[in-house]
Amino acid sequence: MTGTELERLAASGVLPLDATTADPDGAFERLWRGYGPVAPVELQPGVHAWLVMGYDELRTITREEHLFSRDARQWRSFQDGTVPPDSPLGPMMFFRDNVIGHDGEEHRRLRRPLQDAIGGIDHRRLRRTVERLCTGLIAEIAPRGEADLVRDYAAAVPLLTIGDLIGLDAAQSAELLEATHLLFSSGERAQEGNARFEALLFGLLAAKTAAPGDDMTSVLLRHPDLRSDAEVLQTLVVLVSAGNHTLISWISQSLRIVLTDPRFASRMRGGRLSVDDALDEVLARQPPMINMPARYALADVELGGRRVARGDALILGLAAASRDTRAHTPGWWTHGNHASMAWSAGPHACPARDPARTIARTAVAAAGHLLRDARITVDPDAIGSEPSPWTRIPRGLPVAFTPAPIAVP
Ligand code: HEM
Repeated sequence: MTGTELERLAASGVLPLDATTADPDGAFERLWRGYGPVAPVELQPGVHAWLVMGYDELRTITREEHLFSRDARQWRSFQDGTVPPDSPLGPMMFFRDNVIGHDGEEHRRLRRPLQDAIGGIDHRRLRRTVERLCTGLIAEIAPRGEADLVRDYAAAVPLLTIGDLIGLDAAQSAELLEATHLLFSSGERAQEGNARFEALLFGLLAAKTAAPGDDMTSVLLRHPDLRSDAEVLQTLVVLVSAGNHTLISWISQSLRIVLTDPRFASRMRGGRLSVDDALDEVLARQPPMINMPARYALADVELGGRRVARGDALILGLAAASRDTRAHTPGWWTHGNHASMAWSAGPHACPARDPARTIARTAVAAAGHLLRDARITVDPDAIGSEPSPWTRIPRGLPVAFTPAPIAVP
């Protein structure tokens, strides 16, 4: 027999990765039943990867970077041209010369400034900032009596907040939101979005070089591990892009269960703890990144009973790992067990879990508090998600509530 095990399994037809975000329960079960904790999936026609669904196997590939690299230049399908340069997989999977793309000491050098900037965040101030921004957003929709809480709320909170953290003023943060929206629209105005996004960040660098403040950009600019403005800029781009869709997903999924699940709807009025319960349930069951790119095998290695070949891509099945009954009992997250893989693990694990929680908790609580009688106006089971193999964002959360003006502080 010739070819790698991945190629042989793929030849007989395998599930596309999108199936795991469209129908996680069904797809993960089929894959696990068919292949065990490490299963072949199709990324795009003719391009395949392993989906690592086992909790232990996921910990192995995220921790053992001498065997499983983050550097996409190690991907055989990239090296041999099977994946063309204009592949839609590019934005998520191709090599980027930033903290995400490197291993070892180069990764640590690029990660230390991020950790220092994130570690310096004042959480009380962050909470007040998010409360102010959320109140402003809700003040716009409150008199209308109806809204889409994804479009009008969850989609705006992350970038307005991150804008504030990196030192943009309110108007510039609104520009960041609009430029990023255009950039990710993949439509005719995507180039314009890119140009506006870059202009904004270049302007920010110049302003903070001339007059440093206590914002994250100023921390990055004076950090000894970043060697040029280009590296500072790359780090800002990572901060903005890593925090946006993940937080939109976490906030909107939490709002969805708070609005639709009777266990949360009644307990929400009680205060913060219930919001954290909702956030934890989302992290465990529908984590913002359902699947995450990727690790690339640096040697032939056995994993979860499969023969992974050097150069194979391995997708992190962060949602699937929550269902691994070898590691968890059903309902484990309700008992204070925070062993979810939503933040990944190892050297690349999310460095922003604390501020992400402060932002998401404050946003969900503010909506629950300010739109007290909000009720969803469609069948919750019919909402569906934006198409993506990676993340899960509800297509919309249409709600109705008693119209009332809200004072902006
Ligand atoms: C719902 C919230 C969030 C979730 C679930 C999340 C999840 C993740 C995951 C799974 C990874 C790691 C991937 C891997 O192992 O390759 C990651 C990396 C990262 N996240 Fe987050 N994230 C969230 C919010 C944020 C926010 C708000 C920021 C920044 C403002 C952020 C910044 C980063 C950065 C910089 C990395 C790359 C770290 C590295 O490669 O060393 N994340 N995140």
